[in-house]
Amino acid sequence: MPKRSRRSRKSLHVALVYNADTGIIPDTPEDRGSTADLRKMIRDMARVLRSLGHQVTILPLAHDLFAFQRKLRRLVPDVVFNQYDDVVHGALYEMRFAAMVRMMGFPITGSPALALGLTRYKYMSASLLHGLGIPIPPCTAMLEKVGDVDRHEWRFPLIVQPSQEHSGIGLDRDSIVESKKALRRQVGHVLRNFNQPALVQRFLPGREFNVSVVGGKRPRVMPLAEVNYGELPPEIPPIMSYAAKWIETSVEYKKTSVICPADVEPELARQISDISIRAFRAVRSWGYSRVDIRLDEAGAPRVLEVNCNASLEEGVALARSAERAGIRYPQLLQMIIDAALEGPPHDVSVPMLL
Ligand SMILES: Nc1ncnc2c1ncn2[C@@H]1O[C@H](COP(=O)(O)OP(=O)(O)O)[C@@H](O)[C@H]1O
Ligand SMILES: [Mg+2]
Repeated sequence: MPKRSRRSRKSLHVALVYNADTGIIPDTPEDRGSTADLRKMIRDMARVLRSLGHQVTILPLAHDLFAFQRKLRRLVPDVVFNQYDDVVHGALYEMRFAAMVRMMGFPITGSPALALGLTRYKYMSASLLHGLGIPIPPCTAMLEKVGDVDRHEWRFPLIVQPSQEHSGIGLDRDSIVESKKALRRQVGHVLRNFNQPALVQRFLPGREFNVSVVGGKRPRVMPLAEVNYGELPPEIPPIMSYAAKWIETSVEYKKTSVICPADVEPELARQISDISIRAFRAVRSWGYSRVDIRLDEAGAPRVLEVNCNASLEEGVALARSAERAGIRYPQLLQMIIDAALEGPPHDVSVPMLL
Protein backbone atom coordinates (compact mmCIF):
# COMPACT_ATOMS: atom_id res chain seq x y z
CA MET A 1 0.00 0.00 0.00
CA PRO A 2 1.19 3.53 -0.67
CA LYS A 3 2.85 5.09 2.31
CA ARG A 4 2.13 8.68 3.22
CA SER A 5 5.92 9.14 3.29
CA ARG A 6 5.95 8.81 -0.50
CA ARG A 7 4.47 12.27 -0.75
CA SER A 8 6.68 14.84 -2.37
CA ARG A 9 6.78 17.30 -5.21
CA LYS A 10 8.49 14.71 -7.31
CA SER A 11 6.87 12.56 -9.91
CA LEU A 12 3.79 10.80 -8.59
CA HIS A 13 1.61 8.15 -10.08
CA VAL A 14 -1.81 9.75 -10.33
CA ALA A 15 -4.97 7.76 -11.10
CA LEU A 16 -7.43 10.21 -12.62
CA VAL A 17 -10.92 8.83 -12.11
CA TYR A 18 -14.12 10.02 -13.73
CA ASN A 19 -17.65 8.73 -14.05
CA ALA A 20 -17.91 7.06 -17.45
CA ASP A 21 -21.54 6.04 -17.07
CA THR A 22 -23.13 7.79 -20.04
CA GLY A 23 -26.49 7.67 -18.27
CA ILE A 24 -25.28 10.17 -15.65
CA ILE A 25 -25.75 13.26 -17.72
CA PRO A 26 -29.02 14.42 -19.26
CA ASP A 27 -27.52 14.54 -22.75
CA THR A 28 -29.64 16.96 -24.72
CA PRO A 29 -27.97 18.68 -27.67
CA GLU A 30 -28.07 22.15 -26.13
CA ASP A 31 -26.80 20.93 -22.78
CA ARG A 32 -23.28 22.15 -22.00
CA GLY A 33 -22.36 19.45 -19.53
CA SER A 34 -22.29 16.63 -22.08
CA THR A 35 -20.28 13.43 -21.89
CA ALA A 36 -17.99 14.72 -24.66
CA ASP A 37 -17.26 17.86 -22.59
CA LEU A 38 -16.44 15.70 -19.58
CA ARG A 39 -14.06 13.43 -21.53
CA LYS A 40 -12.30 16.44 -23.01
CA MET A 41 -11.86 18.00 -19.57
CA ILE A 42 -10.38 14.77 -18.23
CA ARG A 43 -7.93 14.50 -21.16
CA ASP A 44 -6.87 18.12 -20.68
CA MET A 45 -6.42 17.60 -16.98
CA ALA A 46 -4.27 14.52 -17.57
CA ARG A 47 -2.09 16.53 -19.95
CA VAL A 48 -1.62 19.27 -17.35
CA LEU A 49 -0.79 16.73 -14.62
CA ARG A 50 1.78 15.13 -16.94
CA SER A 51 3.29 18.55 -17.59
CA LEU A 52 3.97 18.67 -13.84
CA GLY A 53 6.06 15.53 -14.23
CA HIS A 54 3.47 13.06 -12.93
CA GLN A 55 2.62 9.73 -14.44
CA VAL A 56 -1.12 9.74 -15.08
CA THR A 57 -3.49 6.84 -15.66
CA ILE A 58 -7.02 7.79 -16.65
CA LEU A 59 -9.44 5.37 -15.01
CA PRO A 60 -13.07 5.55 -16.09
CA LEU A 61 -15.60 4.00 -13.73
CA ALA A 62 -19.04 3.00 -14.95
CA HIS A 63 -20.76 -0.25 -13.97
CA ASP A 64 -17.65 -2.42 -13.72
CA LEU A 65 -16.80 -1.88 -10.09
CA PHE A 66 -14.81 -5.09 -9.56
CA ALA A 67 -12.75 -4.57 -12.71
CA PHE A 68 -12.12 -1.01 -11.58
CA GLN A 69 -10.98 -2.13 -8.16
CA ARG A 70 -8.66 -4.74 -9.70
CA LYS A 71 -7.11 -2.07 -11.91
CA LEU A 72 -6.63 0.34 -9.05
CA ARG A 73 -5.04 -2.38 -6.96
CA ARG A 74 -2.66 -3.27 -9.74
CA LEU A 75 -1.72 0.35 -10.34
CA VAL A 76 -1.07 1.24 -6.70
CA PRO A 77 -1.24 4.98 -7.45
CA ASP A 78 0.28 7.51 -5.08
CA VAL A 79 -2.96 9.43 -5.22
CA VAL A 80 -6.41 9.15 -6.77
CA PHE A 81 -7.44 12.39 -8.46
CA ASN A 82 -11.18 12.34 -7.91
CA GLN A 83 -13.29 13.63 -10.76
CA TYR A 84 -16.08 11.14 -10.09
CA ASP A 85 -19.24 13.16 -10.30
CA ASP A 86 -22.80 11.91 -10.48
CA VAL A 87 -25.65 14.32 -10.88
CA VAL A 88 -28.25 11.72 -11.75
CA HIS A 89 -28.08 8.92 -9.24
CA GLY A 90 -28.61 11.03 -6.21
CA ALA A 91 -26.82 12.20 -3.18
CA LEU A 92 -25.05 9.08 -2.01
CA TYR A 93 -23.06 8.05 -5.05
CA GLU A 94 -20.13 10.43 -4.88
CA MET A 95 -19.68 9.70 -1.22
CA ARG A 96 -19.47 5.96 -1.88
CA PHE A 97 -16.65 6.40 -4.36
CA ALA A 98 -14.49 8.44 -1.98
CA ALA A 99 -15.12 5.96 0.83
CA MET A 100 -14.17 3.02 -1.37
CA VAL A 101 -10.86 4.59 -2.41
CA ARG A 102 -9.96 5.31 1.21
CA MET A 103 -10.92 1.76 2.21
CA MET A 104 -8.46 0.57 -0.44
CA GLY A 105 -5.82 2.69 1.27
CA PHE A 106 -5.17 5.34 -1.36
CA PRO A 107 -5.06 9.09 -0.74
CA ILE A 108 -7.79 10.89 -2.69
CA THR A 109 -8.09 14.50 -3.79
CA GLY A 110 -10.87 16.76 -2.59
CA SER A 111 -13.31 16.19 0.20
CA PRO A 112 -13.71 12.98 2.17
CA ALA A 113 -16.84 10.84 1.91
CA LEU A 114 -18.61 12.41 4.86
CA ALA A 115 -18.30 15.95 3.49
CA LEU A 116 -19.41 14.83 0.03
CA GLY A 117 -22.48 13.12 1.43
CA LEU A 118 -23.34 15.79 3.96
CA THR A 119 -23.21 18.67 1.50
CA ARG A 120 -25.47 16.82 -0.94
CA TYR A 121 -28.09 16.84 1.83
CA LYS A 122 -28.79 20.53 1.83
CA TYR A 123 -30.94 20.63 4.93
CA MET A 124 -28.45 18.69 7.02
CA SER A 125 -25.52 20.87 6.04
CA ALA A 126 -27.55 24.07 6.48
CA SER A 127 -28.59 22.87 9.95
CA LEU A 128 -24.98 22.16 10.84
CA LEU A 129 -23.86 25.61 9.68
CA HIS A 130 -26.71 27.22 11.59
CA GLY A 131 -25.82 25.26 14.71
CA LEU A 132 -22.28 26.62 14.50
CA GLY A 133 -23.51 30.19 14.21
CA ILE A 134 -22.69 30.53 10.51
CA PRO A 135 -25.41 32.63 8.86
CA ILE A 136 -27.77 30.80 6.45
CA PRO A 137 -31.01 32.06 4.84
CA PRO A 138 -33.90 32.54 7.32
CA CYS A 139 -36.93 30.21 7.21
CA THR A 140 -34.78 27.24 6.17
CA ALA A 141 -36.98 24.14 6.38
CA MET A 142 -37.27 20.70 4.86
CA LEU A 143 -40.76 19.62 3.84
CA GLU A 144 -41.64 15.97 3.37
CA LYS A 145 -45.28 16.51 2.49
CA VAL A 146 -47.35 19.35 1.15
CA GLY A 147 -49.31 19.50 4.41
CA ASP A 148 -46.12 20.50 6.23
CA VAL A 149 -46.50 23.96 4.69
CA ASP A 150 -49.01 24.74 7.46
CA ARG A 151 -46.59 23.85 10.24
CA HIS A 152 -44.32 26.86 9.67
CA GLU A 153 -44.42 30.61 9.89
CA TRP A 154 -43.32 31.95 6.51
CA ARG A 155 -42.17 35.28 5.29
CA PHE A 156 -42.23 35.61 1.54
CA PRO A 157 -40.60 35.54 -0.96
CA LEU A 158 -39.33 32.00 -0.56
CA ILE A 159 -37.32 29.74 -2.80
CA VAL A 160 -38.20 26.05 -3.16
CA GLN A 161 -35.79 23.42 -4.47
CA PRO A 162 -35.07 19.70 -4.18
CA SER A 163 -33.16 19.11 -0.95
CA GLN A 164 -30.64 16.60 -2.34
CA GLU A 165 -29.61 17.82 -5.77
CA HIS A 166 -26.98 20.13 -7.11
CA SER A 167 -26.04 21.89 -10.36
CA GLY A 168 -29.24 23.89 -10.40
CA ILE A 169 -31.40 20.79 -10.80
CA GLY A 170 -35.02 21.59 -10.00
CA LEU A 171 -34.51 25.36 -10.09
CA ASP A 172 -36.43 27.28 -12.72
CA ARG A 173 -38.59 30.35 -13.24
CA ASP A 174 -41.26 29.02 -10.85
CA SER A 175 -38.93 28.29 -7.94
CA ILE A 176 -39.49 31.60 -6.17
CA VAL A 177 -42.88 31.87 -4.54
CA GLU A 178 -44.78 34.82 -3.11
CA SER A 179 -47.79 33.06 -1.57
CA LYS A 180 -48.76 30.00 0.42
CA LYS A 181 -50.67 28.68 -2.56
CA ALA A 182 -47.62 28.89 -4.81
CA LEU A 183 -45.48 27.40 -2.03
CA ARG A 184 -47.79 24.38 -1.83
CA ARG A 185 -47.64 24.01 -5.60
CA GLN A 186 -43.83 24.07 -5.72
CA VAL A 187 -43.40 21.75 -2.74
CA GLY A 188 -45.77 19.28 -4.43
CA HIS A 189 -43.82 19.65 -7.67
CA VAL A 190 -40.49 18.80 -5.96
CA LEU A 191 -41.97 15.84 -4.04
CA ARG A 192 -43.57 14.37 -7.17
CA ASN A 193 -40.87 15.01 -9.74
CA PHE A 194 -37.69 14.59 -7.71
CA ASN A 195 -38.87 11.98 -5.25
CA GLN A 196 -37.25 13.73 -2.27
CA PRO A 197 -38.12 16.36 0.34
CA ALA A 198 -38.24 20.02 -0.66
CA LEU A 199 -35.87 22.62 0.80
CA VAL A 200 -37.58 25.93 1.49
CA GLN A 201 -35.71 29.11 2.38
CA ARG A 202 -36.27 32.83 2.37
CA PHE A 203 -35.27 34.14 -1.03
CA LEU A 204 -32.31 36.47 -0.51
CA PRO A 205 -32.46 39.33 -2.97
CA GLY A 206 -28.89 40.57 -2.60
CA ARG A 207 -25.63 40.11 -4.47
CA GLU A 208 -24.43 36.55 -5.06
CA PHE A 209 -20.83 35.41 -4.70
CA ASN A 210 -18.94 32.24 -5.52
CA VAL A 211 -16.09 31.86 -3.09
CA SER A 212 -13.31 29.48 -4.06
CA VAL A 213 -11.39 27.95 -1.19
CA VAL A 214 -8.20 25.98 -1.78
CA GLY A 215 -5.98 24.07 0.61
CA GLY A 216 -5.81 21.53 3.38
CA LYS A 217 -4.93 22.46 6.94
CA ARG A 218 -4.62 26.12 6.02
CA PRO A 219 -7.31 26.78 3.41
CA ARG A 220 -7.08 30.04 1.44
CA VAL A 221 -9.85 32.10 -0.07
CA MET A 222 -9.27 33.01 -3.72
CA PRO A 223 -10.40 36.34 -5.23
CA LEU A 224 -14.19 36.55 -5.04
CA ALA A 225 -16.43 35.99 -8.05
CA GLU A 226 -19.84 37.63 -8.35
CA VAL A 227 -22.82 36.46 -10.37
CA ASN A 228 -24.07 39.26 -12.58
CA TYR A 229 -27.85 39.13 -13.06
CA GLY A 230 -27.98 42.75 -14.27
CA GLU A 231 -28.74 41.82 -17.88
CA LEU A 232 -31.64 39.48 -17.12
CA PRO A 233 -35.11 40.62 -18.18
CA PRO A 234 -37.19 41.47 -15.08
CA GLU A 235 -39.61 38.55 -15.52
CA ILE A 236 -36.79 36.01 -15.02
CA PRO A 237 -35.78 35.52 -11.38
CA PRO A 238 -32.12 36.24 -10.60
CA ILE A 239 -30.99 32.75 -9.64
CA MET A 240 -28.48 30.18 -10.89
CA SER A 241 -31.19 27.93 -12.28
CA TYR A 242 -30.57 24.79 -14.32
CA ALA A 243 -31.03 26.81 -17.49
CA ALA A 244 -28.60 29.53 -16.36
CA LYS A 245 -25.97 26.90 -15.62
CA TRP A 246 -26.35 24.52 -18.53
CA ILE A 247 -28.70 25.43 -21.38
CA GLU A 248 -26.68 27.52 -23.82
CA THR A 249 -29.72 28.50 -25.87
CA SER A 250 -31.71 29.92 -22.93
CA VAL A 251 -32.09 33.59 -22.02
CA GLU A 252 -31.00 32.62 -18.50
CA TYR A 253 -27.68 31.27 -19.79
CA LYS A 254 -27.02 34.11 -22.21
CA LYS A 255 -27.84 36.88 -19.74
CA THR A 256 -26.15 35.54 -16.63
CA SER A 257 -22.42 36.01 -16.26
CA VAL A 258 -19.79 35.78 -13.55
CA ILE A 259 -17.38 38.60 -12.78
CA CYS A 260 -14.04 37.73 -11.25
CA PRO A 261 -12.51 39.39 -9.38
CA ALA A 262 -15.67 40.95 -7.96
CA ASP A 263 -15.70 44.58 -6.96
CA VAL A 264 -16.31 44.30 -3.22
CA GLU A 265 -15.55 46.76 -0.45
CA PRO A 266 -12.85 45.40 1.88
CA GLU A 267 -15.01 44.98 5.00
CA LEU A 268 -17.65 42.97 3.11
CA ALA A 269 -14.94 40.93 1.39
CA ARG A 270 -13.48 40.13 4.80
CA GLN A 271 -16.86 38.99 6.14
CA ILE A 272 -17.52 36.85 3.07
CA SER A 273 -14.08 35.23 3.25
CA ASP A 274 -14.44 34.61 6.95
CA ILE A 275 -17.79 32.83 6.75
CA SER A 276 -16.66 30.88 3.70
CA ILE A 277 -13.67 29.46 5.53
CA ARG A 278 -15.85 28.70 8.54
CA ALA A 279 -18.38 26.91 6.31
CA PHE A 280 -15.60 24.99 4.51
CA ARG A 281 -14.25 23.78 7.83
CA ALA A 282 -17.68 23.11 9.34
CA VAL A 283 -18.65 20.54 6.71
CA ARG A 284 -15.12 19.05 6.85
CA SER A 285 -14.38 19.94 3.27
CA TRP A 286 -10.79 19.44 2.13
CA GLY A 287 -8.52 20.44 -0.74
CA TYR A 288 -10.88 22.71 -2.61
CA SER A 289 -14.49 23.87 -2.58
CA ARG A 290 -16.69 26.62 -3.84
CA VAL A 291 -18.91 28.28 -1.27
CA ASP A 292 -22.08 29.95 -2.58
CA ILE A 293 -23.02 33.09 -0.69
CA ARG A 294 -25.81 35.59 -1.03
CA LEU A 295 -26.46 38.89 0.75
CA ASP A 296 -29.72 39.34 2.64
CA GLU A 297 -31.95 42.45 2.70
CA ALA A 298 -29.59 44.03 5.23
CA GLY A 299 -26.54 43.36 3.06
CA ALA A 300 -25.18 40.62 5.34
CA PRO A 301 -23.66 37.52 3.71
CA ARG A 302 -25.33 34.16 4.25
CA VAL A 303 -24.18 30.74 3.07
CA LEU A 304 -26.32 28.96 0.47
CA GLU A 305 -24.11 25.89 0.23
CA VAL A 306 -20.62 24.46 0.16
CA ASN A 307 -19.79 22.71 -3.11
CA CYS A 308 -17.20 20.12 -2.23
CA ASN A 309 -15.23 18.89 -5.26
CA ALA A 310 -16.51 21.82 -7.31
CA SER A 311 -15.74 21.88 -11.02
CA LEU A 312 -12.03 22.16 -11.85
CA GLU A 313 -12.52 23.02 -15.50
CA GLU A 314 -9.66 25.19 -16.70
CA GLY A 315 -10.26 28.93 -17.04
CA VAL A 316 -13.64 29.11 -15.31
CA ALA A 317 -15.10 29.10 -11.81
CA LEU A 318 -12.62 27.91 -9.18
CA ALA A 319 -9.69 27.73 -11.62
CA ARG A 320 -10.34 31.28 -12.77
CA SER A 321 -10.49 32.61 -9.21
CA ALA A 322 -7.18 30.88 -8.48
CA GLU A 323 -5.66 32.45 -11.62
CA ARG A 324 -6.67 35.87 -10.30
CA ALA A 325 -4.55 35.10 -7.24
CA GLY A 326 -1.62 34.28 -9.53
CA ILE A 327 -2.09 30.52 -9.17
CA ARG A 328 -1.88 29.01 -12.62
CA TYR A 329 -3.88 25.90 -13.48
CA PRO A 330 -1.03 23.36 -13.14
CA GLN A 331 -0.11 24.87 -9.79
CA LEU A 332 -3.73 24.64 -8.64
CA LEU A 333 -3.89 20.94 -9.47
CA GLN A 334 -0.59 20.45 -7.61
CA MET A 335 -1.98 22.25 -4.55
CA ILE A 336 -4.99 19.92 -4.63
CA ILE A 337 -2.71 16.88 -4.80
CA ASP A 338 -0.57 18.26 -1.97
CA ALA A 339 -3.70 18.67 0.18
CA ALA A 340 -4.69 15.07 -0.60
CA LEU A 341 -1.29 13.78 0.48
CA GLU A 342 -1.41 15.90 3.60
CA GLY A 343 -4.81 14.27 4.27
CA PRO A 344 -7.60 15.47 6.54
CA PRO A 345 -6.72 15.31 10.25
CA HIS A 346 -7.67 12.08 12.01
CA ASP A 347 -8.11 10.30 8.66
CA VAL A 348 -6.35 7.15 9.71
CA SER A 349 -5.40 5.03 6.74
CA VAL A 350 -6.69 1.53 7.36
CA PRO A 351 -6.74 -0.29 4.04
CA MET A 352 -8.96 -3.36 3.85
CA LEU A 353 -6.85 -5.02 1.19
CA LEU A 354 -4.12 -7.48 1.99
N1 LIG B 1 -32.11 31.23 -0.19
C1 LIG B 1 -31.78 31.67 -1.39
N2 LIG B 1 -31.91 32.98 -1.71
C2 LIG B 1 -31.61 33.45 -2.94
N3 LIG B 1 -31.17 32.68 -3.94
C3 LIG B 1 -31.01 31.36 -3.69
C4 LIG B 1 -31.30 30.79 -2.42
N4 LIG B 1 -31.06 29.47 -2.49
C5 LIG B 1 -30.63 29.23 -3.74
N5 LIG B 1 -30.61 30.35 -4.47
C6 LIG B 1 -30.26 30.51 -5.89
O1 LIG B 1 -30.29 29.25 -6.51
C7 LIG B 1 -28.99 28.88 -6.95
C8 LIG B 1 -28.74 27.40 -6.71
O2 LIG B 1 -28.94 27.13 -5.36
P1 LIG B 1 -27.92 26.24 -4.54
O3 LIG B 1 -28.50 26.05 -3.18
O4 LIG B 1 -26.56 26.84 -4.64
O5 LIG B 1 -28.04 24.85 -5.29
P2 LIG B 1 -27.19 24.14 -6.42
O6 LIG B 1 -26.61 22.99 -5.69
O7 LIG B 1 -28.19 23.73 -7.41
O8 LIG B 1 -26.16 25.10 -6.92
C9 LIG B 1 -28.04 29.75 -6.19
O9 LIG B 1 -26.84 29.96 -6.91
C10 LIG B 1 -28.85 31.05 -6.05
O10 LIG B 1 -28.81 31.79 -7.25
MG1 LIG C 1 -24.90 26.28 -5.82
